[in-house]
Amino acid sequence: KLSGRVIVQPDPEALHAALGRDLLDAATKSVNARGQFHLALSGGGTPEPFYERLATDLEFRSMPWAQTHVWVVDERRVPADHEKANIRMLRSALLDHVPTPGHQVHPMFVDGDDPAGRYADELADAYGHALPSAGGGGVPPKLDFVLLGMGGDCHTASLFPASPALGETEAWVAENDGEKVVPPPRITMTYPLLNNARRVAVLLTGSGKADALRRVEALHEAGTVDAEEVPISGIDPGKHGGTLAWYLDAAA
Ligand code: 6PG
Repeated sequence: KLSGRVIVQPDPEALHAALGRDLLDAATKSVNARGQFHLALSGGGTPEPFYERLATDLEFRSMPWAQTHVWVVDERRVPADHEKANIRMLRSALLDHVPTPGHQVHPMFVDGDDPAGRYADELADAYGHALPSAGGGGVPPKLDFVLLGMGGDCHTASLFPASPALGETEAWVAENDGEKVVPPPRITMTYPLLNNARRVAVLLTGSGKADALRRVEALHEAGTVDAEEVPISGIDPGKHGGTLAWYLDAAA
């Protein structure tokens, strides 16, 4: 009933193995085709054990980490060593244990002038595009693989219900805040960037995700989108030739 491919496994362990294999396959194909793999990762509690598995399971030892660029889907505006910083979790669960060169790990900027715009510039730079800040904005780069999660309010990335970043039609990255944004304020990849990805995977485990998932299913069945109230329903890489896949355990 969901749009896209749906992968269901009995438990998180089996699901992580299936996602890991698909990620390895995507990475291998990207490196063969373009010499690089651009991977965007989410924070949150759900993917942490998956990242740990990816770092340690011998099945994934052929991941082309040296050719991988790691991007962050969204970030809280806190220092990098803060317990709520996604980059802190990503490093301790995964990045500290794999041979991706430091300059290919791209933490979001969280302070200073226009952190979202500077991150878009960094993306453009890594892809060899003209920098958005130099008037080179426009078609976003194609991330090879984006891993998303979803909150109980159907937010994904830091695209929360009724928040300003939902309305971004141009910027690739945006600051986001508002009544329904769980504090602290956030920086997030936007629909234009996320929906231009080659592959988007949504990882959901546990019964706590089931009600939110029913809301998404109802919209997909009706063929409608309600980005304002169900932000994840606005995720649709298919319109730019990409794919969407849902990785669910039985409880979700
Ligand atoms: C983040 C995520 C966010 C997350 C959901 C679900 O930075 O926290 O990018 O969108 O996926 O909030 O979080 P849990 O996995 O902790 O339930």
